[in-house]
Amino acid sequence: MDKLLITGGKTLSGTLRVSGAKNSALKILAGTLLTEEPVSIGNVPHLHDVTTMIELLGSLGADVVLDEKMRVEVTAANLKSVRAPYELVKTMRASFVVLGPLLARFGRAEVSLPGGCAIGARPVDQHLKGLAALGARIDLADGYVRAEMDGRLKGADITFDLVTVGGTENVLMAATLAEGTTRIANAAREPEIVDLANFLNAMGARISGHGTSTLIVEGVERLSGCRFDVMPDRVEAGTYLIAAAATGGRVRLTEAAPDTLDAVIEKLECSGAEIRCDVNSIELDMHGRRPRAVDIRTDVYPGFPTDMQAQYLAMNAIAEGDSRVTETIFENRFMHVQELNRLGAQIELENASTALVHGVARLKAAPVMATDLRASFSLVVAALMAEGTTLIDRIYHIDRGYETIEEKLQLLGADVQRVR
Ligand code: EPZ
Repeated sequence: MDKLLITGGKTLSGTLRVSGAKNSALKILAGTLLTEEPVSIGNVPHLHDVTTMIELLGSLGADVVLDEKMRVEVTAANLKSVRAPYELVKTMRASFVVLGPLLARFGRAEVSLPGGCAIGARPVDQHLKGLAALGARIDLADGYVRAEMDGRLKGADITFDLVTVGGTENVLMAATLAEGTTRIANAAREPEIVDLANFLNAMGARISGHGTSTLIVEGVERLSGCRFDVMPDRVEAGTYLIAAAATGGRVRLTEAAPDTLDAVIEKLECSGAEIRCDVNSIELDMHGRRPRAVDIRTDVYPGFPTDMQAQYLAMNAIAEGDSRVTETIFENRFMHVQELNRLGAQIELENASTALVHGVARLKAAPVMATDLRASFSLVVAALMAEGTTLIDRIYHIDRGYETIEEKLQLLGADVQRVR
């Protein structure tokens, strides 16, 4: 199993190109199932989760061709199956979003229930509620969701009980091919939803309101092929900004989308970073300063993203002062706290959703273990700041969502190696 060896104490400095967004690419790839025509997707990040989605499309019978720049062409003309098996869904929950597209195009789909995961129970009730409102008959049996429909789905008014990114995406994709108009209220406003809606509109869908909490979808009879480039990964960008800030360094990110990072940039400024943004680049400079402690409360977009909570918590661990970090999206997203404490951090869990961080002057290397994707990067941030060499085990979690992590960190001057 791969591990990362990081010797701390280097100040990160340099320029990085931001990769395409994992959480947008995965849904867009699922969306290619909505048409029999070839669809060409660019700026797809080279990640394990993307490979899993491509494997899933292949197992359904789609023809997938990749070029050396990770432009992916999918032709879902002759599917041989509408079943997403447990083996694939259990390795990546995002596979569940093929349910909406398969159901809308073929009138039936069978997708394994994803089950719980390291960050919480993560039910899919809202996905199913939305698809049922569009007229699908839904059964749960043998660990699978079976959805069926005679003829086309029917447009409906749907109000989600809570804001769900995946639920919004599944129902949005299904509604594109429904008969009549669908109105999705309390929809997620995340930039990845906007990217997905732009992609679907490029295929001929008629979606409006994306980026607001009400989506209007006028169903069309068929969608066609298109060429589309995935948006920049805001979580990857934010993560490297935090890593550079934590080491007192400076970084320039290119091919980024600064307008998707307002909440994170605001917090980094409170921590003492000087930040300048252009249309598609971000420059951060800490001028060698130790960060100031800043309270964080995660929220749905445009609030502070849960996917950057762990990394910010790691920076707060060596910041000047005490801080409170509150997680409101997932019920179990503090697994990194114990690992950070192994490195000498002083973090106490007040309850399941609040961590109290007492900033310490230094961390010290120790062997640690990654528990989930973003938590893993918090250990990287901590290791970059720690005295000595930290061994981070189970980094397959990191490879699910951070492209060529050691190369990118080395470009910024970090002392990092992958070992087997
Ligand atoms: C997406 O997960 C992202 N994953 C997550 O990123 C991200 O943390 C999350 O959105 C929130 O921004 C992908 O896009 C692949 P949700 P998703 O449905 O869609 C509850 C990463 O590290 N809920 O918005 O699964 C749920 O349990 C990953 O890249 C229900 O109760 O998130 C959670 O508490 C981790 N019923 C909350 O809503 C439902 O039917 C938000 O979940 C659906 C969700």
